[in-house]
Amino acid sequence: MSLRKNKFSRCSKKRKSVATKEELASSCFRWINQRLYTSSSEEARELFQKDPLLFQVYHNGYGKQMETWPQKPLEFCQSWLKQYCKENKSFVIADFGCGNQAQLEDKLNRPNIRFHSFDLVKTEDPRVIPCNVINVPLNNKSVDVVVCCLSLMGTDYAKIIQEAHRILKKSGVLIIAEVTSRLQGILDIFCRRIAQIGFQECLRNTSNSFFVFLVFQKSTKEHKQPTTITTNHNDNTILPQLKPCLYKKR
Ligand SMILES: C[S@@+](CC[C@H](N)C(=O)[O-])C[C@H]1O[C@@H](n2cnc3c(N)ncnc32)[C@H](O)[C@@H]1O
Repeated sequence: MSLRKNKFSRCSKKRKSVATKEELASSCFRWINQRLYTSSSEEARELFQKDPLLFQVYHNGYGKQMETWPQKPLEFCQSWLKQYCKENKSFVIADFGCGNQAQLEDKLNRPNIRFHSFDLVKTEDPRVIPCNVINVPLNNKSVDVVVCCLSLMGTDYAKIIQEAHRILKKSGVLIIAEVTSRLQGILDIFCRRIAQIGFQECLRNTSNSFFVFLVFQKSTKEHKQPTTITTNHNDNTILPQLKPCLYKKR
């Protein structure tokens, strides 16, 4: 009897310790997530650079959150690109904020598509180029598509849009998938301001309740760009600050 009791108590301690570890990982994920949405991209890069484990913890937590979404925004990007990247033409795609693996590159593995997958730090996947996408090592007008799938995280995300504009060829496309709640009440102004940077809005899909899917085409007219575009809610010429996407304790 006492042997069974001991075994039971050891088992229950083990379960408690697993639960505590999961709770810790979950609160750590929420803390990192909040930091990413409320700091500049450079501060985020420094955070992960100083402690690469945080990047892993973030992506484990993000992966768990994604499991609860009925449809993944990356799948949306994938199916749109499958249609867009016709096989008789070659395409260069830059995935801005690809995550810990070059997932989109895996999903669209075709000989006519060349990928540049970027994220803030080095990961186990050698295809991921460690880089803050406000400044990517690509030439002006050298890519056909830029994908920003849930990656407009930093308070200076406007610089990401500006960088996308710089590297896109004329008529190249910018795909943005973003969490719906981040754009609530500001979607029109967000799209209008992106257009002012030198894009034309081609597609706005709000049919999914979790995320918005947007496609912009780089204008063929040369736009005179301001030297820096910043994010602020009140100014008329710049991009609105997006709301952070905070996950609830589960
Ligand atoms: C929410 S995850 C999305 C990952 C992937 N695109 C997906 O849809 O599954 C956002 C990713 O963007 C990256 N990110 C955010 N800002 C970035 C920046 N300025 N430069 C490079 N990567 C960035 C983060 O490190 C993170 O891996």
